[in-house]
Amino acid sequence: MAETENKLSFPKGFLLGAAASAHQVEGQNINSDWWYWEQQGKLPKSGQAADHYNRFEEDFGIAQTIGLNAMRISIEWARIEPSEGQWDSEAIEHYKKVLKSMKAHGLTRMVTLWHWTLPKWFADKGGFESKAGIEAFARYAWFVAQNLGSEIDLWETLNEPETFAQQAYTLGKFPPFKTSNLTYLRVIRNLILAHKQAYRAIKAAYPQAKVGISKNFSYYEPFRKYNFLDQLIVFFADRIGNQYFLEKIRKQLDFIGLNYYFFNRVRFDFIWGYREMNLNSTSPQMTSEDSQNRSDMGWVLYPKGIYHLALELKKYNLPIYITENGLADTQDSRRHKFLQETLEWVKQAIIQGVSIKGYLHWSLTDNYEWTNGFGPRFGLVEIDYATQKRTVRKSAEIFKQVNIPA
Ligand code: FCB
Repeated sequence: MAETENKLSFPKGFLLGAAASAHQVEGQNINSDWWYWEQQGKLPKSGQAADHYNRFEEDFGIAQTIGLNAMRISIEWARIEPSEGQWDSEAIEHYKKVLKSMKAHGLTRMVTLWHWTLPKWFADKGGFESKAGIEAFARYAWFVAQNLGSEIDLWETLNEPETFAQQAYTLGKFPPFKTSNLTYLRVIRNLILAHKQAYRAIKAAYPQAKVGISKNFSYYEPFRKYNFLDQLIVFFADRIGNQYFLEKIRKQLDFIGLNYYFFNRVRFDFIWGYREMNLNSTSPQMTSEDSQNRSDMGWVLYPKGIYHLALELKKYNLPIYITENGLADTQDSRRHKFLQETLEWVKQAIIQGVSIKGYLHWSLTDNYEWTNGFGPRFGLVEIDYATQKRTVRKSAEIFKQVNIPA
């Protein structure tokens, strides 16, 4: 007992929370590109989602009750600016209430400005494919900072820019469903610029703001530990996948938001360059241990990856928040162990001198998992979508064991 308590104690001020995004929980995001494509039958319908738009008070109450002291939410651009240049004051008032409610429930407020969905008008004009998109995003960031600045504790411009660009522009799975590597590269370049301009716009309107992004990180390991070519592949995968975007924006970054879900074992391949021995694969190269440790989505669960990644990020000399980490687990049979081990590895990284300031689990409640619809269950809280009833899952009890000095 004493040992468990000890393992799960964190420094004063540590944020222990959960993360969510507007489109995935709010419902009725009718002015967004996603909503449009849902109605066209190209994507699963999100409908009322978890009706968080109306039930935010209840949800923040639950977060507080289970022992959380922080939440990461996103603000929906399509609500704030439903048509170009038209700012919706009701939407601003709504988010003001949301943010005040978070505070009243003792939750530090981390807010993402863009979590993948776009206003339909913006998408119609080419979204982040076009240079004009950069300006439009910075204008939106400025507007939010002007109107909600004092209600936001930590800012994030972008969520997982590369995941978005890959799904939308090379894999063709997210709107606008394109499969062009060149467009992918253009969008990445524009997202880098969009972050930089939004960073400046937020600071211009609200100088005290602390601004970061949530970036997707994967932990890579060589399939053959001592094989030089496998090590080389790991080196490049890490440089490109984990570090490139950060390097580009490091001068405009007050903290790093680390999203971690994926553990990839890679090996050099003479024909394809490299092969990933990871997800969904039942390849003979998977160890039996790997194949048992999977989420409902088949993602390999590897809590220690967070430790390795955090240590590598130490060189940036910036505070780090784990802004997403979690698993689909309908039966709630693996979540507790996963959380326990992950928090222990976060603690180890802190002991090694990494400045990790918080851990935000994905997600507070079950939600709309993009192209996978409502199937995967990522919530600490179960949602019955027929009644919108919330039931706290047993794994959430772990937060009561975490000790953070007041
Ligand atoms: C992340 C996304 C988040 C959620 C989780 C499972 O990549 O940022 O919205 O879908 O995956």
